[in-house]
Amino acid sequence: MTTHPTLLLIDDEAVTRSEMTSALASNYEILEASGRANALSQIRLVMPPLVLLNLDPSSNVEGTAEGLIILRETVQLNPMTKVIVMVGSNDRTKAAAAMEGGAYDILEKPVQLDVLKVVLQRAMYLFNLERESRAVREEVSGTEFQGLVGTSKPMQEVFGMIRRVGPADVPILITGESGTGKELVARAIHRLSGRKDAPFVAINCGAIPETLLESELFGYEKGAFTGAVQQRKGRIESAQGGTLFLDEIGDIPLSLQVKLLRFLQEHEVHRLGGRHKISVDVRVLAATNIDLQEAINSGRFREDLFYRLCVVGIPVPSLKTRGSDITLLAKQFFAKFAEAHKKPLKGFTSQGIEAILAHNWPGNVRELENRVKRAVVMAEGKYITPANLELKDLSSGHSDVTTLRGARDLREKELVRIILDKVDGNVSKAAIELGISRPTLYQLLSRYRLRPSKFDAEHGERRV
Ligand SMILES: Nc1ncnc2c1ncn2[C@@H]1O[C@H](COP(=O)(O)OP(=O)(O)OP(=O)(O)O)[C@@H](O)[C@H]1O
Ligand SMILES: [Mg+2]
Repeated sequence: MTTHPTLLLIDDEAVTRSEMTSALASNYEILEASGRANALSQIRLVMPPLVLLNLDPSSNVEGTAEGLIILRETVQLNPMTKVIVMVGSNDRTKAAAAMEGGAYDILEKPVQLDVLKVVLQRAMYLFNLERESRAVREEVSGTEFQGLVGTSKPMQEVFGMIRRVGPADVPILITGESGTGKELVARAIHRLSGRKDAPFVAINCGAIPETLLESELFGYEKGAFTGAVQQRKGRIESAQGGTLFLDEIGDIPLSLQVKLLRFLQEHEVHRLGGRHKISVDVRVLAATNIDLQEAINSGRFREDLFYRLCVVGIPVPSLKTRGSDITLLAKQFFAKFAEAHKKPLKGFTSQGIEAILAHNWPGNVRELENRVKRAVVMAEGKYITPANLELKDLSSGHSDVTTLRGARDLREKELVRIILDKVDGNVSKAAIELGISRPTLYQLLSRYRLRPSKFDAEHGERRV
């Protein structure tokens, strides 16, 4: 079923309204209004993309002024709404007033139907275009995508892939070091898929003893083994219609890999001790933090299973390659935990930020989250220090950081770093973003011993 765009028709004459309605009803969802109050309340309620407004009403002389108020308020309520105004023939004053009021187009009466149809079509096309570009802008300007915080280039690439593969009903293998957010990526894919209203079932294949994993995945019938006192569905079956997330897939024993492969090929499961096959429709997402290629080479992982699972691969970058995301995440976690623990904390000391930027983050986002959480609990002052984070205080021994000047330098250095990261080390762009001249930026770079080439995404070096 296709839905037609909504068009609000504002005209004081019932006859004209019904004529217009019957002429346009096959392509538009028509709403009608005869006066200002009714028109504006419908606009507030429905926010129609299109409004057709008669500025040349027959019934009263105040009609035109009323019409102009409707026009202005409509544009104010929703600047994307396209208002097409009808004026009397050769009525330049009203046409000019309508233009000034923000009308999308002006048509002289009597309006020719075929012209009106073209104008409406064009207006709708523009409306859709603007709406799409606004949606993209809003997404890009935010710091979060489906619960994943990040504005860095490597994470934007991950978000782009999630957007593309989410709706495609194919198996995906998510790889990355421990704590990089693989499960969040899997959940984001599920939410963007056609299966979003069906279950998302996660199972950590590494955390379940080998002997139990099979019955967890496939389920069992009553009496299948000692202790199977009643029938139980497996996780695969519980995900019926939805998404099954196989975490730590690299830890699955070879014997189970065969069974999993069979399930992926046939879309059927066999409960332990069961006689019938049960057909299951699920999308499988898998994640691993080990190198599966190496596991294949050493015979620990089946190559055929790998190709079944990895129709598309999404590598999630380690935290240390995400530039300014590190402090962005730290600040988000800080805000979350300070609020949850009701601590009147104000933020991080400059040394705290410096220590965060210098740390290597082997445990990635999970480590950052845990350190900030612990720090919020432990902090006694107003600001989080490197000691609270259990990180090395790089400034210890440098008494100047306790001075205003020292603190300002640290902030300045962090800002320059963040901007360089954003513009991939392009000095001219960075200078513009920072609002300073190129020579001044070069002075800062040499003072803080920063090398722009380090921020070039192509080099893939550590960026902090
Ligand atoms: N980009 C992000 N924005 C906000 N929180 C994040 C982000 N990435 C990870 N996290 C948080 O970090 C923690 C670890 O994430 P997750 O469990 O998804 O990682 P993982 O890659 O599956 O780790 P593991 O390999 O250890 O299972 C979670 O609490 C998650 O909410
Ligand atoms: Mg995980």
